[in-house]
Amino acid sequence: MPTHDILVLPGDGIGPEVMQAALAVLDAATENSDLELRLSFDLLHGAAWERYGAFCREETVAAALTADAVLAGAVGGPRWDNIRVPGGPEMQDGLMRLRKELRAYAGLRPARAWPGSHSRTPFRPGLAETADILVLREMCGGVMFALPRGQETRATGRYALDTAAYSEGEIRRIAEAGFRLARGRRGRMVSADKANVMESYRLWRAVVGEVAADYPDVRLTHMYADNCAYQMMRRPQDFDVVIGCNLIGDFLSDLAAVVSGSLGLLPSACLRGAPHGGPVPGIYEPVHGSAPDIAGKGIANPIGMILSIAMMLEHSLDAPDIARKIEAAVGQALADGVATPDLDGTASTSDMTAAVIERLGA
Ligand code: NAI
Ligand code: MG
Repeated sequence: MPTHDILVLPGDGIGPEVMQAALAVLDAATENSDLELRLSFDLLHGAAWERYGAFCREETVAAALTADAVLAGAVGGPRWDNIRVPGGPEMQDGLMRLRKELRAYAGLRPARAWPGSHSRTPFRPGLAETADILVLREMCGGVMFALPRGQETRATGRYALDTAAYSEGEIRRIAEAGFRLARGRRGRMVSADKANVMESYRLWRAVVGEVAADYPDVRLTHMYADNCAYQMMRRPQDFDVVIGCNLIGDFLSDLAAVVSGSLGLLPSACLRGAPHGGPVPGIYEPVHGSAPDIAGKGIANPIGMILSIAMMLEHSLDAPDIARKIEAAVGQALADGVATPDLDGTASTSDMTAAVIERLGA
């Protein structure tokens, strides 16, 4: 069994709290397996800024490039959100830099209903109990990265510019990832765009349509993103894989979190390549941010981070059986009513972690 290198970047705010919890689950879940893990730790974003004056150091990029997987807590906070350093958008955000440097373009953001958590969603009975949506977000291009961008003052007042741009190759590779994932699920894919009003989305729609020819077993539907958001809330159980650009995928993945009951439950994977049946390197992080409003209180829900570790075991470490074991333990803890405050309960981060670890053997 080869040793797997994992770079751990706890991050800011609740990042280190949920990371500590999730590593305890990883430790317990792999205890009697033959999986050999070598963990190394580094700082990212705010924590790195305070120590090194950079959001992401070259050393961190180099370590991430050679690791089998990177685990990231969450980054950011009011202390750093308005700092601007020389360079493009990826230099302003440690996680964006890592995604870009690693070409981790395929952002898998699964959101599913969990037993026992339905009562915490706004859905009426019967509408979302079996919902299981995989939002696939393009992570390395689009309006969040494209140039030119900037702010200036003109005679007419202040002016700001962003650019929405995608190349055919960028669209093709994310579309292929989407079709492969849909093929392994329920065989349906919705592509969300704004092809009615924007050129980059016209190309998006055309290229996704072309790639579809190679996947006749997947049913593709194009939707305008605004209607897609509406339909996802109206009939969440009808959705399987939903692909979108960096911006639309960001919005739709937080929206999909509603079917789970809390943003704190959502994991994510940013893969450095399309899934192909074997291990793919990737960055694993919860969908949520650093939650400064609850940081340091010991009440953050660790499940998004715990399930991100399950995704790492599945996609980068070739250990889907251990991933399933962790997911089952999470499902059992939620079904038994263990709930942190975001799920209207009183369990602390460590109570929830202990509850998951207790159920690993079940
Ligand atoms: P957020 O996701 O941090 O928080 C939104 C709301 O959800 C807050 O009320 C928070 O308390 C709650 N929440 C989030 N995660 C939770 C958890 N695990 N358990 C319980 N409650 C949870 O988003 P917000 O407030 O917009 O951003 C805060 C900071 O995080 C900003 O600096 C932002 O830039 C950064 N951010 C970082 C991300 C990342 O690292 N991938 C993603 C999104 C935001
Ligand atoms: Mg988001």
